[in-house]
Amino acid sequence: MDSILVKGNGALNGVIPIAGAKNACLTLMPATLLSEEPLTLTNAPRLSDIATMTQLLQSLGAEVASLQEGKVLALASHGAINHVADYDIVRKMRASNLVLGPLLAREGHAIVSLPGGCAIGARPMDLHIHGLEAMGAEIELKDGYLHAKAKGGKLRGAELTLRMASVGATENILMAATLAKGTTVINNAAREPEIVDLAQCLRKMGAQIEGEGTSRIEIQGVDRLGGATHQVVTDRIELGTYMLAPAICGGEVELLGGRMNLVAAFAEKLDEAGVSVTETANGLKVSRKNGRLKAVDVTTEPFPGFPTDLQAQMMALLCTAEGTSVLEEKIFENRFMHAPELLRMGAQIEVHGGHATVHGVEKLRGARVMATDLRASVSLILAGLAAEGETVVSRVYHLDRGYERVEEKFRGIGAHIERISA
Ligand code: EPZ
Repeated sequence: MDSILVKGNGALNGVIPIAGAKNACLTLMPATLLSEEPLTLTNAPRLSDIATMTQLLQSLGAEVASLQEGKVLALASHGAINHVADYDIVRKMRASNLVLGPLLAREGHAIVSLPGGCAIGARPMDLHIHGLEAMGAEIELKDGYLHAKAKGGKLRGAELTLRMASVGATENILMAATLAKGTTVINNAAREPEIVDLAQCLRKMGAQIEGEGTSRIEIQGVDRLGGATHQVVTDRIELGTYMLAPAICGGEVELLGGRMNLVAAFAEKLDEAGVSVTETANGLKVSRKNGRLKAVDVTTEPFPGFPTDLQAQMMALLCTAEGTSVLEEKIFENRFMHAPELLRMGAQIEVHGGHATVHGVEKLRGARVMATDLRASVSLILAGLAAEGETVVSRVYHLDRGYERVEEKFRGIGAHIERISA
């Protein structure tokens, strides 16, 4: 298994291009199952999760071609569709569950393995299931697989309210509703930019959708959808991650493709901590206002609140801020696994349930640490960039799931970072 070696190297300066959003691409790709016409996605990120989704869709009978070194994905599912999403692929990536809604809508039945838990939490699918059942699906759990079929062979529109604003459940129900008979209303829908991106792509395919980006989405089902070409929205989590590099190390970095509306709550917290974020014609420019950063409190919430996917990275920043910060993780039940690793680097953090209290120290010290999940892995790299001495982050396969060419992008702004193959 590869590791990454990072050495504190002072201030970081330069430009980083931000890729298309992993979490948008992972819901746009299954949309190909809703239509017999070709779907072309541009600005696709080059990530192992995209390769996993490609493998899953191909196992279902869809065609997925990766063009222009992976930046363009050409998808089509005009042939016979196999409606079984196998455990061996689904267990590798929870987002595989996003084929459930499209398969049910297109085929009238689907057998999709439950993804199983992951490091950050149990991650059940009750909201997906209840939403689709409200649309006339009969779903039964057998041998770890969800066996789903649409009563009468076709889903029907329904008004439903999500107990919590689940991103995946909103996406599955939204995709299923595009081909259901009648009108579907999703109340307490998730508002993430990735959902807005999905709705815009589905509308290009002929779907009738209103209200995406708000808590109430209304969909009029249509008989069939056509093809489309769609540019994947910029990845706000990659953007926020790299915004922290100059914040933690000093210097000034411009993130190409970044827009303030994608990271407003995050940028506000950075401003409070003493980091300047300004929108330029090409992206976002980030630098420290002056001297040592100040401690801030953070609570993760559904969009437009502070994103849970940036919590680990923010903790790395706050380890050396002046004062005490409290981070409250309200989305996942076990998302502080980076804390023990940061302690090995000299951080002072106390975790109690969903709260982590961080007492800022002057400097972290490099150490051998272990990545436990996708976002924790990059928070350790950020900490290593600002630490004295060398940090080696093991299990970087987590990193490759969500960050394309991570060493290259950090090296591009002067970081001392290299991959060590085991
Ligand atoms: C999406 O996961 C993202 N993944 C996650 O990003 C992100 O952290 C999460 O949304 C929250 O923003 C993709 O888009 C592929 P949820 P998702 O359904 O859809 C509970 C990353 O690092 N829940 O909004 O799975 C769930 O357990 C990943 O890129 C239920 O209880 O998130 C969690 O506690 C990590 N029942 C909370 O809701 C359900 O049926 C939020 O989950 C569904 C979810």
